[in-house]
Amino acid sequence: MITMKRGPNHYLECIGCSTRFKPTQIYTCPKCGNLLQIGYNYQSIRRGFIASIRKPGPISVWRYKNILPSSSRNAVSLGEGGTGLSPSVRLSDRLGIDEVYFKNEGQNPTGSFKDRGMTVAITRAVELGAKTVVCASTGNTSASMAAYAARAGLKAVVLIPAGKITKGKLLQAIVHGARINQVSGNFDAALEKARRMAQSGKLYLVNSLNPYRIEGQKTLAFEIWEQLQHTIPNAIIVPVGNAGNISAIWKGFWELRKLGITNRTPRMIGVQASGAAPIAVAYAKGESQVVPWKHPETSASAIRIGAPASWKKALRAVRNSGGTMLTVSDNEISRAQRLLANHEGIFAEPASSASVAGLAKAAKLRLIKPHERVVCVITGHGLKDQQAITIR
Ligand code: F0G
Repeated sequence: MITMKRGPNHYLECIGCSTRFKPTQIYTCPKCGNLLQIGYNYQSIRRGFIASIRKPGPISVWRYKNILPSSSRNAVSLGEGGTGLSPSVRLSDRLGIDEVYFKNEGQNPTGSFKDRGMTVAITRAVELGAKTVVCASTGNTSASMAAYAARAGLKAVVLIPAGKITKGKLLQAIVHGARINQVSGNFDAALEKARRMAQSGKLYLVNSLNPYRIEGQKTLAFEIWEQLQHTIPNAIIVPVGNAGNISAIWKGFWELRKLGITNRTPRMIGVQASGAAPIAVAYAKGESQVVPWKHPETSASAIRIGAPASWKKALRAVRNSGGTMLTVSDNEISRAQRLLANHEGIFAEPASSASVAGLAKAAKLRLIKPHERVVCVITGHGLKDQQAITIR
């Protein structure tokens, strides 16, 4: 018999062996090594959550405080979430799909969706009494962590693959005062090192394998549901790198159903760059394990990842939602970036444009039907990667 030890209103649960743990500073299951997720007594939080979403007022991450693991009173916040959901005007016509929306995460304080997770993770770091936070990053996580750590008065240590992140993102980490540690090799080597550094317990790791990050990022699902007048779209298209975000968004929709607020969930469609696609390849082969790629390569540097930490959560999200995984080439990504900018007025960085390239592919393959309603998640702002644009 497993003894359930529960914190004030949440617990940690292993996604492999389902053992539950008290919310202490652990990132993986001490028994079997799998990742953890945060669970609640859904019965007891239901009323509070429903009351909070009935209240008028702007959407934001902390609007959903009744289903977040940290206290909003301590929130280290820069005003994250509440991003626009813009209906497609011209691209939807071109692709022959009636209703396409762009959830524009570039509007977050540091210009990417990472801020949703970071406000919760850094709040948690403060609650735990951490003095220093650490992350490995392809750029956006480090920019976000550095900003929130600055806000909270914490030291920030950033591990980046040497020479492989964009100048704009590096600049953000520097200006917010993070200590930059360049690691030879790719993101996967940097994450390995960050995990080792956090083992001593002195540094608090805020990569998306930390389940508190996932909790913040799941709020994107709640916002979409509110912005679509309390309806669930048919499909959500998300670029996938380390695979935390697709797992988080799925958890948000899953929780809406679990709480009895909706009776449907959307199909989760994950998009990887074809040069860095270990999850999409495993999915296509119907495999239950993801084999890491040693040398991932794509010009969408944010998703140049060969050993995604949250692969198991992501595969479950895709399979349990009836979704799929797609790959897109670097050419398709850069074409989608231009299309989005030229047709919709949204400037997205290459990794973010992968969701639009995925939309075009899904429409062509008839994975999305003309009458369906679909949301593309635009994960980060185009100004972060200025080298991606060649001026003709
Ligand atoms: N889009 C952008 C702009 C990203 O920065 C990332 C990940 C993703 C998509 C993929 O999200 O990893 O949760 O599947 N960036 C991380 C970073 C890895 O370090 O900034 P994911």
